[in-house]
Amino acid sequence: MDHLLPPEIVKAEHSFTESLAACLDTDALLRLKGAYVGREGSHAARMMELLKAAPKDQKRELGAAINALKQQWEEGLKARQTELEAVKRQRNALAASWDPALPPPVPASGALNPLNRLMDRLVEVFRPLGFHVEEGPEIETEAHNFDGLNIPEDHPAKASSDTFYLAAHPDLLLRTHTSPVQVRTLLRVAKDMAARGGIRFLAPGRVYRKDEIDPTHSPMFHQVEGMLVGHGIGMQHLKGTLEYALRALFGPRTEIRLRPSYFPFVEPGCEVDVSCPLCGAKGCRVCKGSGWVEILGAGLIHPNVLKYAGIDSAEWSGWAFGMGVERMAMMLSQTPDLRLFFENDQRFLKAMGGLD
Ligand code: DAH
Repeated sequence: MDHLLPPEIVKAEHSFTESLAACLDTDALLRLKGAYVGREGSHAARMMELLKAAPKDQKRELGAAINALKQQWEEGLKARQTELEAVKRQRNALAASWDPALPPPVPASGALNPLNRLMDRLVEVFRPLGFHVEEGPEIETEAHNFDGLNIPEDHPAKASSDTFYLAAHPDLLLRTHTSPVQVRTLLRVAKDMAARGGIRFLAPGRVYRKDEIDPTHSPMFHQVEGMLVGHGIGMQHLKGTLEYALRALFGPRTEIRLRPSYFPFVEPGCEVDVSCPLCGAKGCRVCKGSGWVEILGAGLIHPNVLKYAGIDSAEWSGWAFGMGVERMAMMLSQTPDLRLFFENDQRFLKAMGGLD
């Protein structure tokens, strides 16, 4: 159709929809109507002149094109008119219902994510014991994530079916635990261990594993690592510290128990249970009737980990632990699905006050 119409009309046709949307009140719409379909000086009037002047054999086709375009404009104008009238009615109704004596609406305020609050609490529990916070990158080297932690070459965790490796840098990966912060921190402080008299820190952060998303798994989750290096450190120090921290977290009547377990970076290694904070160890759904819930992995730092960082394992010893934050937050808040922690629904975040 366009080829029959002069450029000015084609241009008008193209800008019509935009001009129509730009009409925000009926006055503007009236002006647009005048410019497009008004009796005089409008695009439509100009088209009629063109029709009159057109050679006979073109009149039929040109006439049909002009009519179609004019009808399209008229319908568009009418629809916009209906829209603008509806908006006006709504605005009037709102203005009529506005009561200046009512209190103003309270602005929505944010809430800290329960996972962050739980990690903050852990940091506060350990701070009086002289622990500070260390951080490490979420994109790690194989060396920090595995080798420095005495994890053997053929360990299943190194498989690309469990770990996100970077496609462009096969020696880099998304850290699978917060334990590489141990390696980085030990490497950094190794030289002045003597002057410092040891080191103690927490390392909270995100970790990544190739897990399918379901109510208890997510490819991204949080851990808090804890580590202490000093002179003559043994299991008794680990147990005493954890007892203090977990009682501060779960309540003064909390009991803990250590079960032997294996992690390459500790020897001996253990898993630590707390008496179920929800039922007071009587047995409930959360502890599956056993009265105990597993909370973290821990142990005495393997001499190879100290050695890797250049620290003399004959002189220094220590403990380390790593705990899963989601698991603990789910238990404390009785949240059945960890995905709720990541959806940032204000109603959920506010209802999580129980974690404080
Ligand atoms: N890194 C271990 C994991 O991701 C958790 C862990 C266990 C950390 C024992 C430790 C430890 O520091 O001593 O499952």
